Amino acid sequence: MKNKILVTGGVGYIGSHTCIALHEAGYDIVVYDNLSNSSREAINRVSTLIGQSIKFIEGDVRDAESLKRVFSSHQFFGVIHFAGLKAVGESVAKPLLYYNNNVSGTITLLEVMAEYDVKNLIFSSSATVYGDPETLPINEKSKRSCTNPYGQSKLTVEHILEDLAVSDDSWNLIPLRYFNPVGAHPSGKIGEDPNDIPNNLMPYISQVAVGKLEKLSIFGHDYPTIDGTGVRDFIHVTDLAKGHVAALNYLEKQTSSNESGTTKQNSVGFLPINLGTGKGTSVLELVSAFSDVSKQDIPYQFAERRAGDIASCYASADKAKNLLGWQAKLSITDMCQDTWRWQSINPNGYDIEK
Ligand code: NAD
Ligand code: UFG
Repeated sequence: MKNKILVTGGVGYIGSHTCIALHEAGYDIVVYDNLSNSSREAINRVSTLIGQSIKFIEGDVRDAESLKRVFSSHQFFGVIHFAGLKAVGESVAKPLLYYNNNVSGTITLLEVMAEYDVKNLIFSSSATVYGDPETLPINEKSKRSCTNPYGQSKLTVEHILEDLAVSDDSWNLIPLRYFNPVGAHPSGKIGEDPNDIPNNLMPYISQVAVGKLEKLSIFGHDYPTIDGTGVRDFIHVTDLAKGHVAALNYLEKQTSSNESGTTKQNSVGFLPINLGTGKGTSVLELVSAFSDVSKQDIPYQFAERRAGDIASCYASADKAKNLLGWQAKLSITDMCQDTWRWQSINPNGYDIEK
């Protein structure tokens, strides 16, 4: 058994897939989640998929006493910190809720980590920290700026991590900047389960395909892109999950290299890394790929541009490849196939009552 890892927000969409990847890679994991945006059924299904009960603690990252109880009962190598709120529109309506969850929650977690001398962290950041990019593909040195409270909360946490790394070189802090995670586990047992009507493109398309929603509105068709619709770097969630395992392997290698029997510490400091495929796909291209895979018609209409949207966004994935030895492998067809399998087996997500 390899090192023990605390996974905050591990019941959610990306966290649940990452728990499986971590288990497959031999890690011992403890999941900590307040279930504010996830379901116990996801824990049951991950347990079924890994063939053993997942260690789960219900708790909030803003609750220092609860976190201290967890850290005093387990010896962690590090933390993968997914816990946070992620809806851009809701963040505009409820900024304090977002800063409290995403920023205060992370500060509380870091304070407890410091108290227990656990200094290795992988943080869920986002391509949203790049705002409207000046050049493409976007690399880790590209300018950062955000226009909504959700994005600001991610950028603020990145600044906090940078300051922390400067203040004390025993911290090893990797913000992974995700591009557009989509897809589901190939078993069809776990996937993305949005509350209410989805805001994001892939879950919207799949709910149209399964007949839950009538038609897709495509926000803007006059962008300077291949077909006038927005272009994004869609990445399969299982590839993304493996990116976390690669980052963890990197942290382990850097922080304890055995040289003639002695353990040498190399500080990683603050090390942001993009997780994307490096390829852009337009909204219309994704609709067409999904329709081909599902053999369903996806009716759509063109609508006004959505406020705050950018024309194109895709990653330079070179740093992840060179440093972590990680590369996304799965195609747009794989992403559509796995989303369709999950959506058609579970038309109401984890909730049979919905
Ligand atoms: P998700 O909502 O499915 O998962 C987040 C999990 O965190 C949920 O299980 C939720 O219950 C839990 N949580 C929220 N606040 C908490 C708190 N205060 N204490 C404990 N648990 C809490 O979201 P996801 O798509 O899996 O995203 C995971 C992380 O990745 C988030 O931080 C998100 O901002 C970031 N991210 C997501 C995307 C995306 O498109 N899905 C893109 C970039 C970054
Ligand atoms: N789109 C539509 N119709 C829809 C939904 C989306 O046309 O019903 C379009 C958007 O206008 C955009 C593209 O599909 O051109 C992708 O939109 P998403 O909402 O799926 O994704 P975004 O790129 O806007 O944002 C996502 C997450 C953010 C995250 C960002 C970068 O929602 O939280 O990726 O990681 F910050």
